[in-house]
Amino acid sequence: MTTTDEPITEITEAELPWHLRENRAPIPDEVTITDLQVVGALPPELNGRYLRNGANPVTGHSEHWFLGDGMIHGIELSNGSANWYRNRYVRTPLFENPGVDRMELGYLNPETISFDYEISTANTHVIAHNGKILALEEGAFPYEITPQLDTVGPCTFNGKLATAMTAHPKICPETGELLFFGYSSLPPYLVYHRVSATGEVLQSTEISVTGPTMMHDFVVSRNYSVFMDLPAIFDMELAMSGGMPIRWSDEYPARFGIMPRTGSDADVRWFDVDPCYVFHTLNAHEEGDEVVVRGCRIRELWRTSADIGDPDQTNADDAPRMWEWRFNLSTGAVSERQLDDRSSEFPRVPDALVGLPNRYGYSMSTNAAQTAGEIFKYDLANGGSRTSHVFPEGQMPGEPVFVPADGATSEDDGYLLTFVHDETTDTSHLTVLDASSIESDPVAQVHLPRRIPAGFHGSWVAD
Ligand SMILES: [Fe+2]
Repeated sequence: MTTTDEPITEITEAELPWHLRENRAPIPDEVTITDLQVVGALPPELNGRYLRNGANPVTGHSEHWFLGDGMIHGIELSNGSANWYRNRYVRTPLFENPGVDRMELGYLNPETISFDYEISTANTHVIAHNGKILALEEGAFPYEITPQLDTVGPCTFNGKLATAMTAHPKICPETGELLFFGYSSLPPYLVYHRVSATGEVLQSTEISVTGPTMMHDFVVSRNYSVFMDLPAIFDMELAMSGGMPIRWSDEYPARFGIMPRTGSDADVRWFDVDPCYVFHTLNAHEEGDEVVVRGCRIRELWRTSADIGDPDQTNADDAPRMWEWRFNLSTGAVSERQLDDRSSEFPRVPDALVGLPNRYGYSMSTNAAQTAGEIFKYDLANGGSRTSHVFPEGQMPGEPVFVPADGATSEDDGYLLTFVHDETTDTSHLTVLDASSIESDPVAQVHLPRRIPAGFHGSWVAD
């Protein structure tokens, strides 16, 4: 037994960093709950699992919201019933060595100047491709998990993946291909990958960017892959200090690169845009000679601090807003415009429309002053008009995931799934909204006797 004479200091909630306060605080345990209360009627066609990833530091502390250990929360639905809720950490080297940071674990080998991509938090997204469920974090390999959320281990596509993998790959609904990139703070800064529907690496291509940009997402259209070379860049001094090693640069350009999906570096055409940062794209599609990209644009990111989301440090002008860029491949012209003045993030379209024209897009309000959450629905055929589902006071949703109805007859014929935290009871539920009638009361809710911390991204994994 070890004893210490150090006095125990109590830290009050207010003294915690923003990302560890309120419903962003981690939960300490893993549970399986089968006795779930359902309110309303779960559509019997929802057969599968809603899975959502997020940062939940094992030690209770992390230096930044993005740096906690990945914990997946899942609910299995079948034939109108909710079978189980469970939450599981992804078993990574960082999880197995609590309190040891990735550099101390040997993420960067100083002799070979190479990275150990098995060292991951696996905390950002969870997707399914080729029958595998993958937990993703952009600095590392994917981690495969089972439908019951147990960890299988790192996935390298039969040893062919030699870079990190973004947490925001795109699955082409027409070819089944998994399209993604890996970015790095050291050259090569960007490598593009194409994996077949059956998990075979078809292409790994270095792409020239200006420098060590933080590329969180990208976007595809039917024929093109689109990269964002934007002025939030890696900073070695910040890295050595242990925090989030990214800062804004006034010198670095802001540009989008458009490449045929099977193309190479020489085929990329770069288009300058107004300086901005984009964590998340909504979608892209082609219209005549134009590639149209929509996403949540931030005017500027992390000039003085990397504390994203902290209402004390985020200027309202820097809130993310739904935006549209049009790139004319024939004339080289670029046009861009704001689609909505509300603060909006975590955008999603139906999986079946990734890279294809979509009329509707969904996102959530990120206005920190709001005490009742909101899910937005954009009608992009109608100038980007917005309708919303306003939750009761104290209820805060997450990213809305679209699931089509059986035999859907319109693009929005389906459901939006997300976890909702109720601040009045400090419990959470899965809500099922009717996407075609977003203002209406939820179709169903699956209630838990405890809370699910606010997290990042998720997917519906159908049986
Ligand atoms: Fe993300």
